[in-house]
Amino acid sequence: MSDDGWSPRALWRGFFPETPREGADAIVQNFLLHALPVRITRRALSWLASGWLGTITLHIFLVLCLTGGVLLFLYVPSIERAYASVKDIEFVVSFGSWIRGTHRISAHLMVAAVVLHLVRVFLTGAYKKEGAPGAFRPLNWWVGIMLMMLTFGLSFTGYLLPWDQLAYWAITVGTQIAGSVPLIGEELRQLMLGGDSVGQPALLRFYVLHCFVLPAFMIYLIAYHMWRIRKDGGLAVTDRVVGDARETARIAPPSPGKTYTLMGATQGVSAQASSPASLLARDSEAGGVSIVRRTIAIFLIVLAVCSLLGLLIPAQLEEPANPAVTPNPAKAPWYFLWLQELVSILTFRVGDTLVDGTLLGGVVIPGILIGLLASWPLLDKSPAAAAGVWFHPSRKRQNRVFLFLLFTALVLTVIGTFFRGAYWAWVWPWDTPHAHTRWI
Ligand code: HEM
Repeated sequence: MSDDGWSPRALWRGFFPETPREGADAIVQNFLLHALPVRITRRALSWLASGWLGTITLHIFLVLCLTGGVLLFLYVPSIERAYASVKDIEFVVSFGSWIRGTHRISAHLMVAAVVLHLVRVFLTGAYKKEGAPGAFRPLNWWVGIMLMMLTFGLSFTGYLLPWDQLAYWAITVGTQIAGSVPLIGEELRQLMLGGDSVGQPALLRFYVLHCFVLPAFMIYLIAYHMWRIRKDGGLAVTDRVVGDARETARIAPPSPGKTYTLMGATQGVSAQASSPASLLARDSEAGGVSIVRRTIAIFLIVLAVCSLLGLLIPAQLEEPANPAVTPNPAKAPWYFLWLQELVSILTFRVGDTLVDGTLLGGVVIPGILIGLLASWPLLDKSPAAAAGVWFHPSRKRQNRVFLFLLFTALVLTVIGTFFRGAYWAWVWPWDTPHAHTRWI
């Protein structure tokens, strides 16, 4: 212990409170911890309730910020020097290849994690309107959709930065799809690229968006997303804890017209005994310790998995970008390949006329799907009891439609990734063993 009474144990005291009261104090008094609930239900803490997929997504984002922060010191956003600076990171800088590999694989993992998180939220009906007074879960669903778009945007803008052939042509294909939007398509494409083709203005725009603008939006929206969960009364499964407790204890919700008995001495149920807070208290534990412990464990696992995969699957670096040499096929980033496949399926000949599927497959269908996803909480008319329950029987049909669409997108992605060769013709992956390694 030092002269001023401080001991290293003080570092731990806040994390290991001895009593529930100390646990609550630790949360209320700490700037970072005060975002956590003082108490949390055991069902919300369970791994099965959410798979902690949102937390996993958040931690992958943290790994991306950490590794991206290092890369920021080394990367030069100019078409003359970008490729060379990435090559230096790969071959000259100590641990450079590992840091870049971890950043790249984490970007892919974040796309996968955010989609899985959305799937979990959908299948548990956790976007439904019901909840504590003041709760409005659809809002967090809409914020989530924006977060998913931002994730795609971050991954897409990062794709161009190495300035190799893969980067150049993936962005060329991706922005061509944006160019097919009716009336404003060409203007939109020019706005994205800062010109007619992928060049210095595009690289600078993508760099600024990737390193500053989109991460800032992301951090802001994630903070809002987390706050909304508290505002909605915790995860949707929490509503089930209250509902089930009421049902099993046969406790009627407090009625404003009823006179409650004094200290339970006479028949009836006191307002306090049937309040959501007291029902939750029976099945809950101190939030701070349980959540912090799990969160730290998840962060360490995510960090270990990302850095191990970053070591095992080094990020590719192809030949420098060359606008004169078009790779055949030129593929969009893997998470947009289902759209590229859709465009190819919808492009066909009728006699001498070529029907171009770019607008339908690249803009109209994804637009409808995003619109459908956004309006789903308003279309879902299943009962309140379906919120926070995996595969609730009342949501059978909508779960089927959702899973069917998801499965179709997955199949198209696999086809686009592994089964498409030159001129987008069908190939067998074992006939072209190295073709599929291009996507990562
Ligand atoms: C960067 C992306 C995202 C991050 C970091 C994130 C983070 C989180 C976290 C940490 C939770 C708490 C539960 C858990 O750990 O799973 C959560 C819950 C939630 N998220 Fe996300 N999320 C993201 C994207 C999305 C998306 C794409 C959607 C849906 C469109 C969404 C909708 C929701 C909803 C509705 C909840 C409350 C779930 C419940 O009540 O059970 N989030 N999110």
